[in-house]
Amino acid sequence: MSRTKRGLVPLAIIGMLLSAACQPVEPVATDADIIVIGAGIAGLAAALEAESLGARVLVVEANSVAGGHAVKAHSLALVDTPLQRSRGFADSPDKAYRDFMAWGEDADPWWLRSYAEASGEQVHDWLAGLGVRFTTLSAAPQASVPRLHATQGSATRVVVPMIAEALRRPGITFLWNTEATGLLRRDGRVRGVYTERSRTGSKRLYRTEAVILATGGQQSNLELVRRSWKRGQPLPARLLIGSGQYATGSGLRLAEPFGAAGTRLDQQDIAIDGLPDPRRPGHGLLVRNPAAIRVDATGRRFTNEAASGKVLTRAALALSPVTHWLLFDAAGARQLHISGAPWLAGTNSQRDILDNPALASKADSIEALAIAAGLPPAALVETVQRFNRFVDQGMDTDFGRIGPGMNGLRPSALRQPPFYAMQLYPMTRASMGGLDIDHEARVLGGAGQVIQGLFAAGEATGVAGINGSHGGEGSFLGPAVFLGRIAARHAVALVAAVQDPAAPATPAAPSPAATAPSAGSPAAAAGLPELLARQRRGYWHFGVSHALVMERAAACDGCHRDGWDTTPALSSEQQLVQLASCTRCH
Ligand SMILES: Cc1cc2nc3c(=O)[nH]c(=O)nc-3n(C[C@H](O)[C@H](O)[C@H](O)COP(=O)(O)OP(=O)(O)OC[C@H]3O[C@@H](n4cnc5c(N)ncnc54)[C@H](O)[C@@H]3O)c2cc1C
Ligand code: HEC
Ligand code: HEC
Repeated sequence: MSRTKRGLVPLAIIGMLLSAACQPVEPVATDADIIVIGAGIAGLAAALEAESLGARVLVVEANSVAGGHAVKAHSLALVDTPLQRSRGFADSPDKAYRDFMAWGEDADPWWLRSYAEASGEQVHDWLAGLGVRFTTLSAAPQASVPRLHATQGSATRVVVPMIAEALRRPGITFLWNTEATGLLRRDGRVRGVYTERSRTGSKRLYRTEAVILATGGQQSNLELVRRSWKRGQPLPARLLIGSGQYATGSGLRLAEPFGAAGTRLDQQDIAIDGLPDPRRPGHGLLVRNPAAIRVDATGRRFTNEAASGKVLTRAALALSPVTHWLLFDAAGARQLHISGAPWLAGTNSQRDILDNPALASKADSIEALAIAAGLPPAALVETVQRFNRFVDQGMDTDFGRIGPGMNGLRPSALRQPPFYAMQLYPMTRASMGGLDIDHEARVLGGAGQVIQGLFAAGEATGVAGINGSHGGEGSFLGPAVFLGRIAARHAVALVAAVQDPAAPATPAAPSPAATAPSAGSPAAAAGLPELLARQRRGYWHFGVSHALVMERAAACDGCHRDGWDTTPALSSEQQLVQLASCTRCH
């Protein structure tokens, strides 16, 4: 299975041994049977499943909030569900298998078959049991039936009920703002997790018999993304980040000293419509405009703009240089849609972006537009004239966007000034490769050997190859839940086998250090503007979210209760109240 092996393991091993050896760690005798690293959708599913089976679970999360990538995501591909049936769509595992195989081209057949057969019950029904309500259904391109399930909004509405349930379960303890920095290895198996708390810098070792890596993908680690770039495709000079703050491939790093090597690392779900986020350097926003034409650096169209995402992506990633421009006129500007960051919701993003010369060139003629955008004027004028002729004649003889096999609405000619050009860059999104796992979600070493005690789920595994070479069709979130539950079941079975059955179970009392605020919590003493002005490690989400709170002049008691707007929410009750606010921004 492991196709893309990297020759960096020995160095990584030395680095890890050194860092583990030098850490002044305080060993903590945890009462957890299983440690889950990462509280994204996969880690939450794993924790809930393991707890349901009677295990005591410790969840280690680098961020101060759970949810991971799911707060940026939308829909889940689920097969043969009550919603599909109620709308008259007959889906089946066979149909789904065929559709996914055709779309993904080289999906892992075993995992895909398992997912197609089980997602209705294992993902849909299970989530519904936690209170997730899917209300909309749509079809992925080329799918034989609509099977993309969404809630009323983003997939935040899928993870929030999971977080709420996890907070209520007595056997689950969260360690927030805590990064797993290494794994303890003894007798060839995993025996514990080294952690570092970002707010205090304190280092600990938590011993355990089973670890589930649910650390997400590696798409915010641009060095790794570039190193894994698909052979034969030109490397982009500029590549934006469109994935999570903590999606840095730490699962791979943690497992490397055990001999784990990545698989399918060159399968990366890259978006081609990235616009630099003016508020977050290096990161991108996602641009859509069905009215626009796309031109390359020579000023010429290079694709049927109405083709499926797969065709567009292939065409745009084959360009050299890997960048292109969206071109539209004043009428087309009304169809511009920009997404990908919570700040967009509160502002007139169309105006903010279209009037920002760093993001969009604007001019009253195509020639002037070309000069402003740095494109060859004669070629651009000719491209637009040619496209307008295609519109008038009802036939695009270059790429077939207009004509008999037309996909979508007939576009309008570009004639109404002002004209706009927006330069777009490739933008990372999700990993379709990662840790290699076996059918029990056990992490495998480079030679295919099982690493005892180490499991992985979710994007950390590239969702087990279920997407093949083409993602973007709602097939990460569902598989992440599915894999999280499988990893949990096998981890629980392993723990049951190694633990002395006669030993009395220790009650799951969260270690006080796990939840107490850092000594002399600075939050208590200072006002919000002052807190935000300080750059503090471990306060990333507090900073980005409360910058918006300030901008929108939102009242503290809209989201906080009983005076804890000056301290972190500590109790599960407070965190449950806080959860009601997530969908205000996500
Ligand atoms: C913009 C965007 C849109 C998407 N849209 C869709 C969609 O519509 N449908 C779909 O199916 N999929 C979509 N995806 C993909 C999908 O959201 C992700 O694949 C999925 O949410 C991954 O879940 P996960 O739990 O495996 O990983 P993550 O959600 O990345 O969670 C990993 C968690 O682990 C934590 N972590 C990482 N390293 C450490 C460490 N060392 N110690 C402690 N904690 C750590 C992180 O902070 C994070 O909370 C989208 C992705 C993006 C970026
Ligand atoms: C006031 C607005 C606001 C609220 C409320 C809020 N967030 Fe956020 N959150 C943000 C912003 C801004 C970001 C940064 C993302 C960006 O700029 O793209 C973010 C990022 C995140 C991320 C990281 C996503 C990534 O890119 O890695 C997670 C996970 C998250 N929020 C979860 C939550 C949860 C869970 C809640 C509820 C407890 C919540 N948020 C409440 C504004 C908010
Ligand atoms: C839109 C909802 C929302 C509003 C309005 C809001 N908060 Fe928050 N607040 C949150 C969320 C969600 C968190 C948890 C964020 C995290 O841990 O990253 C939080 C956490 C905090 C924290 C704890 C930070 C820490 O140490 O972890 C403080 C302090 C705080 N808010 C202060 C305020 C103040 C003061 C106001 C009013 C000016 C305010 N908040 C308004 C949602 C909100």
